[in-house]
Amino acid sequence: MKLGTINRASMLILNKAAGVFSKPSKRKIYEYLRSSNFHPGKAFLHKVVLGIETSCDDTAAAVVDEAGNVLGEAIHSQTEVHLKTGGIIPPVAQQLHRENIQRIVQEALSASRVPPSELSAVATTTMPGLALSLGVGLSFSLQLVGQLKKPFIPIHHMEAHALTIRLTNEVAFPFLVLLISGGHCLLALVRGVADFLLLGKSLDIAPGDMLDKVARRLALTKHPECATMSGGKAIEHLAKQGNRLRFDLTPPMHRAKNCDFSFTGLQHAVDKIITQKEKEEGVEQGQVLASAADIAAAVQHTTACHLAKRTHRALLFCQQRGLLPPHNAALVVSGGVASNFYIRKALELVTNATQCALLCPPPRLCTDNGVMIAWNGIERLRAGVGILYDTEGVRYEPKCPLGVDISKEVGEAAIKVPQLKMKI
Ligand code: KG4
Ligand code: ZN
Repeated sequence: MKLGTINRASMLILNKAAGVFSKPSKRKIYEYLRSSNFHPGKAFLHKVVLGIETSCDDTAAAVVDEAGNVLGEAIHSQTEVHLKTGGIIPPVAQQLHRENIQRIVQEALSASRVPPSELSAVATTTMPGLALSLGVGLSFSLQLVGQLKKPFIPIHHMEAHALTIRLTNEVAFPFLVLLISGGHCLLALVRGVADFLLLGKSLDIAPGDMLDKVARRLALTKHPECATMSGGKAIEHLAKQGNRLRFDLTPPMHRAKNCDFSFTGLQHAVDKIITQKEKEEGVEQGQVLASAADIAAAVQHTTACHLAKRTHRALLFCQQRGLLPPHNAALVVSGGVASNFYIRKALELVTNATQCALLCPPPRLCTDNGVMIAWNGIERLRAGVGILYDTEGVRYEPKCPLGVDISKEVGEAAIKVPQLKMKI
């Protein structure tokens, strides 16, 4: 890429007032080159994708190349705002995405020093997620690809979580993935970039949602050590100081020999304990209990056991059916809840018992981010699947299953899982 090849038409700079992009003046181009410390001799040999994520409460963007280099990244988290309102209010999330998307994309692009004209494609989460949030990312992206005349790659948020591990580790298909976040909970066999078999999913809420609700009920935002943490993170933090044995919680669905999950029952059981403790301690609802750390430890342990048991069954099912390689099969765990080290330890007991490798992306790539979307774009570009040159009729889909659902078949196999000592 030579400096001389940059012309005014290709050097587009984001400009809010004039829509997504406008043609900059020569002065602006040189300002941009100076501020980005652009090296004329630097060559971009690889495919480079801009990824945009707005499916829930994070506005994120990143520029990633084919070799897995994160060239630029920016994120705006809405967690603090939603913690104050006690949960995500979709129109508020939409407004915050609108206010931040321009700046976040600009920041990721500037940090990458890749002129927009050099991008191979733009990849954006279009499914599943909150309709109002997805809409902001999609309409911004469609304007962008229209002006840049670049291909567009719609991304399934859970596919992106599942494939992130291939950016950080050398992992070949097929592998088993456990995706656990605030909105999702599923076990899937990943056979290829866009080739998933769904083995099980949550029948009600996701573990992150349950942990968020428990954290709210425990008023953990009033706890000085966890005021700005997400619910799950606050539970993990407090649990370290607690004794899980002080409360007896039964792992959900322990009689159902399938790979599905459930967290509503657990949430209600914890709710009952909290109400009881409030009476005993003479504490009003909305104040922090003295036993909060013990409750956090108990709910975290029960969640870990439930996730471990279903994952153990899924690994045994895949091994019995020859769906995973006989040696060094991999279990990948991702999604916001996968950044929990206690849960990772529980899953490690399972992979040790089944001679599998446990792989987790680093915590910052487990929670929502733009890198995973850009990387999914690279994966799809390399595989040649789902690349759109015409964006007519592209829509977002708030609900969208991942892959082919074989969970019924998994349940019918009724695999008995050996008892593991959950000493974590
Ligand atoms: O993947 P993510 O960023 O967004 C969704 O797609 O949901 O996950 C966010 C969820 C929240 O429910 C949050 O409480 C949970 O992940 N989470 C955690 C931890 N950090 C975030 N749960 C347990 N332990 C953590 N350390
Ligand atoms: Zn997510």
